[in-house]
Amino acid sequence: MDKRYTFDFDEPVRRRHTNSFKWDIPERHMGCEDVLGMWTADMDFRSPQPMLDMLRKRLDHGVLGYTIRGERYYEIIQNWVQRRYGWSLEKEDIHFCPPGVIPAVCMLLDVVTKPGDAVFAFMPNYDSLYGAAGSMGRRLVTAPLLLERSPAKSCADWHMDLESFERLAKENDIHTMLFCSPHNPVGRVWRMDELQALAEICRRLDIFVISDEVHCDILREGVRHIPMGSVPGMEDRSATLMSPNKSFNVAGLMTASVFIHNRSVMAAFRRKLSSWAMTLDTVFGTLAVEELYSDPACEAWLEEVNRYLSGNLAYAAETINRSLPGVSTYVPEGTYLLWLDFSGTQLRGDALCRHLVCDLGLDLCDGREFDPSKDDHMRLNCACTRATLEEAMRRLQRSRR
Ligand SMILES: Cc1ncc(COP(=O)(O)O)c(C=O)c1O
Repeated sequence: MDKRYTFDFDEPVRRRHTNSFKWDIPERHMGCEDVLGMWTADMDFRSPQPMLDMLRKRLDHGVLGYTIRGERYYEIIQNWVQRRYGWSLEKEDIHFCPPGVIPAVCMLLDVVTKPGDAVFAFMPNYDSLYGAAGSMGRRLVTAPLLLERSPAKSCADWHMDLESFERLAKENDIHTMLFCSPHNPVGRVWRMDELQALAEICRRLDIFVISDEVHCDILREGVRHIPMGSVPGMEDRSATLMSPNKSFNVAGLMTASVFIHNRSVMAAFRRKLSSWAMTLDTVFGTLAVEELYSDPACEAWLEEVNRYLSGNLAYAAETINRSLPGVSTYVPEGTYLLWLDFSGTQLRGDALCRHLVCDLGLDLCDGREFDPSKDDHMRLNCACTRATLEEAMRRLQRSRR
């Protein structure tokens, strides 16, 4: 481990009254006081110190004019992706999309589909990802992920229903898929055999995959993430989207990287960005990416935060399964999010949300955001100090069922 820095994820950082999306949206609190923000996917931890130092130094320079990504950015991305996922990228495979992963998804939909085209996604899924189909005027076609037993006892209980995918793709003339990897909210990190089986269908039916991999660096020990573009047969029929957003807690810097090997799709994507006058980049986003992906102290921070998050997830899952009758969950393979199943309680939908927020002071994500039918599920963000999580568990234990 890097000796220059120590990491203290137990240090409380006050986020209320900082215009934090997670902590400062009063209407989410339904007029209730003292509500813990445990919904949107960011962490309550300070980002790696070397990056904060780098941004401060840049600020001290005092001139924050129009900014480009230099040669260094491409080399750093190539090295990072090679080191972390064993994937060799050519410089021409790499682009960026300043506002973030979801804007890149929307632009890619605009590039690879036409208004009215059918687009596939498995459900449940991240709302802004599957929602991009509708917001771009495309027709969303879905199939549920398969669950081996209900309620799920292990993350590995979730599978892709490839038979339904293939059938629906044929019936609806689908040539585009929105894919979440690692999967939010169920937490699966897809294995190579699963990705190869998916790739085989995509090759046969000529399907292009837009793969949202924003959670790719938050993994349990021993779990390996495989980028879609590195799966044999997917090189030319996928766009892989990554960012330091979740990995290093920099969502507010609004930056993302886009990897596309297919030269005509890449050219069309660049033209799309250009037509939206998005050819330049944010000064702090650019610097942050370079520093986070190249300084070993930042990578050491990432290893440490992963350890801390795994501890939090194991603690919360064990506490919930042991002490909350009717509620069950499991430790996800990736992400810092717990998918809670309340189906063994009487609580559903609005009543469940109101109970959690107003009676217990807990602001979780409503399961219906991820799948309108999941009125008995909630998503709990465990990327907080252990003390906050312990308080959340105490509050949950006061739950009525
Ligand atoms: C699966 C997934 N994709 C994308 C995002 C948002 O990414 P961005 O802010 O870069 O658009 C999130 C945020 O929670 C997410 O969970």
